[in-house]
Amino acid sequence: MKSNKLAMSLIAVALASTCGLSLADTVVKLGFGSPLTGPQAHYGKDNLNGVQLAVDELNAKGVVVGGQKVKFEIVPEDDQADPRTGTQVAQKLVDQKVNVVLGHFNSGVTIPASKLYADAGIPELAVATNPQYLKQGFKSAFRLVGNDAFLGKVLGEYAVKSLKAKSIVIVDDRTAYGQGLADEFEKAVKANGGKVARREFTTDKSTDFTSILTSIKANKPEVLFYGGADAQAAPMAKQMQALGITAKIMGGDMLNTDKFIELAGGKPAEGHFSAVSGAPIAKQPGGPAFEKKYKDKFKQDVVLFAPQFYDSVYLVAEAMKKANSVEPAKFLPALKAINYKGVSGTFSFDAAGEPKNAPVTIYGVKNGKWDVVVVK
Ligand code: ALA
Repeated sequence: MKSNKLAMSLIAVALASTCGLSLADTVVKLGFGSPLTGPQAHYGKDNLNGVQLAVDELNAKGVVVGGQKVKFEIVPEDDQADPRTGTQVAQKLVDQKVNVVLGHFNSGVTIPASKLYADAGIPELAVATNPQYLKQGFKSAFRLVGNDAFLGKVLGEYAVKSLKAKSIVIVDDRTAYGQGLADEFEKAVKANGGKVARREFTTDKSTDFTSILTSIKANKPEVLFYGGADAQAAPMAKQMQALGITAKIMGGDMLNTDKFIELAGGKPAEGHFSAVSGAPIAKQPGGPAFEKKYKDKFKQDVVLFAPQFYDSVYLVAEAMKKANSVEPAKFLPALKAINYKGVSGTFSFDAAGEPKNAPVTIYGVKNGKWDVVVVK
């Protein structure tokens, strides 16, 4: 009997060491949610790559929390950029008792999912930019980038003051992100003395905008603000060119991808604008080094928010070390009080969970690339 027990323990030790885990390791489950399939998969995979890079580094280095070695494990969920799927996967993450959630990406997913995490006391770090996410007053929710009140403000001001656009039209995709950002942009246009000539909407699945654009053409727009993703803005840019609409498209972070330029077919993408919360990657403290590491590992360029997702893992590790605990209730106060210099910038949060340091960069497409126009 005794020798049986001894044999079992030896097998357990052998198994643990083949899995690269010592018996004393504490596993930290990093819940992750973003679109990993469908037309928005490129954004989500980029987020996941950022998390993966940080986890591989931390596990290789070895992190000790409260005297115990910890091993980070990602629990990835594909929310398909869909609010209903998002709440289903959020429930799965809650049921798996993840220590933290990194994500989601889309505001439309993050807003309903965040209630489940908050009710379970699980800290959440998202890049969803609709202000509503943090207006719900959850004590465990944080935003890694600035919200759309800033993006809309900067874009609206730029359209009126710098582009001096007299005829401005707005189209949005009716998602929490697209509609919310369009609302903020409209407010900012008006606050700067401009006028919105027309507002239209479409969906985040549409690709044919001919009828909307045909009616918009009558307004002779100089600026067409689009609240939505690159998979819609790109065909819109193409169709605008075919219809002879010369307006500059302006949009938020989801337009700021190489995919927008590729899908628009090069020339129709030229001259359009997007604004993203955060400094340009070349100006981020660890931006250029991060870009190189990312490209070496994943054989592709950074898409959008990989640096912020990478930083989010380090932020969580830092908070756990400070709190000497991986338990959500114990490391949450340390996360709230954090002041952490990451690759994308320095992170600290206000009482609502908004980042205190949130510059906005406006980019324009020039010669087939998103070029920095101005940092606000
Ligand atoms: N900013 C985008 C959103 O909020 C990612 O959905």
